[in-house]
Amino acid sequence: MKIAIMGAMPEEIEPLIENLDKVTTSVYAANRYYEGRYDDKEVVVAYSKIGKVFAAMTATILLERFDCDVLLFSGVAGAIAEDLKIGDLIVADGLCQHDLDITAFGHPYGYVPEGEVCIPTDAKLRTLAHQVAQKKKIVLKEGIIATGDQFVADPARKAWVKETFDAVALEMEGAAVAVVCNAFETPFFILRAISDAADMDAGFDFDTFLASSAKISADFILSMVEEMDEAIVSR
Ligand code: ADE
Repeated sequence: MKIAIMGAMPEEIEPLIENLDKVTTSVYAANRYYEGRYDDKEVVVAYSKIGKVFAAMTATILLERFDCDVLLFSGVAGAIAEDLKIGDLIVADGLCQHDLDITAFGHPYGYVPEGEVCIPTDAKLRTLAHQVAQKKKIVLKEGIIATGDQFVADPARKAWVKETFDAVALEMEGAAVAVVCNAFETPFFILRAISDAADMDAGFDFDTFLASSAKISADFILSMVEEMDEAIVSR
């Protein structure tokens, strides 16, 4: 079993890479991939750069070129739900694209023909996450995460995303990873720690809490890797 662990920004993967053994790196399509071992399991780590296009490319490369069997995403998100505070972990049970709009043709927001508004994440990986959380005595919240090529720092946009998609958090890569993994029938998991509340202070809060929240997410992902075995990828 080869495990892909992906972030969007250097800060999101640094706490992962520093814990890997026997690391070798390679560059492919203008992006660096870190192959190594964690808890004696084979892992490949990369950050995509920000946004859906880069995220889709990196996810595809992790599955197709590096032959990973499962993909775990670690990073930060803006909170929509009131009960999500900075540093809280949120597991995506499904992902949607809040900026995908062909409503002019009578389709709902987030939908294109032959796609889905909301792509569910792997149930086995979510169950594992809750077992890990219980062991670590960490509160793990779960809900729909909305993705878009937009840093949201606007209460009105945030309210619209909440109303339209019933989302609890938003970020800029998760749904792109979901589309790719879903197409390749590869189990995937999206974890985010809250860095801001997608409000007027979001830019400042993001800069302040990016590193600390990214580390909270990365530490949890590593704990999940410790508990993973072949059964997690057998269908
Ligand atoms: N990632 C973290 N905070 C975000 C925000 N406010 N908007 C979009 N992506 C984010």
